[in-house]
Amino acid sequence: MQPLPREHHLADHLDTILLSEARIRARIMDLATEIEANESTHPDLTLLVLLHGSLLFAADLMRALSLPLYLESFRVASYHGGTSSSGALTMDPRALAALRGRHVLVVDDILDTGRTLSAVTRALREEAGAASVTSCVLLDKRVARAVEFEADYVGFPIGDDFVVGYGLDFEGRYRNLPYIATLKPEAIRETRR
Ligand code: IMP
Ligand code: MG
Repeated sequence: MQPLPREHHLADHLDTILLSEARIRARIMDLATEIEANESTHPDLTLLVLLHGSLLFAADLMRALSLPLYLESFRVASYHGGTSSSGALTMDPRALAALRGRHVLVVDDILDTGRTLSAVTRALREEAGAASVTSCVLLDKRVARAVEFEADYVGFPIGDDFVVGYGLDFEGRYRNLPYIATLKPEAIRETRR
């Protein structure tokens, strides 16, 4: 049988698996318990999912929560290609308007420079008029912070390596990996040709 072209074996592009499916699953159960303990007084908790990166995380987290909740999502992009955050954000004003008076829990894949979540949470408070705003991230790159921001709920603190999988991408790919991994330097170079 003809081997698939190299680019079809996603696992060949990976360096190390940082967080296995089992570890992610177990941590999400704990996060859900924490969130339920703190947020159960809100009658109308709204999960605001920042697309595309937190799609898988949010899908698993919401199934682990037994609180009644609403779901909203919007697309923000701070990396426009490459492996470092540009800080430029795009937010849909109509999506913001839907959150007036709501208790919002923002769900994001990773907290890096902090620009995305600090801009989103500020917009929710100041422009959208949310009743309360908290945030939950699967990963926190603490050393990479460019603006002051801490999430209320953190899955895993990690180092400064660029990671992919479980929703996180490099130039749009690798989101479908069920675990979190680092990329081989060649995989980063190859997509840049
Ligand atoms: P921040 O605004 O710099 O905090 O960046 C947050 C966004 O940058 C995340 O939602 C991701 O989309 C992206 N990002 C930051 N670090 C990584 C990474 O290691 N892998 C993939 N995407 C990342
Ligand atoms: Mg991204």
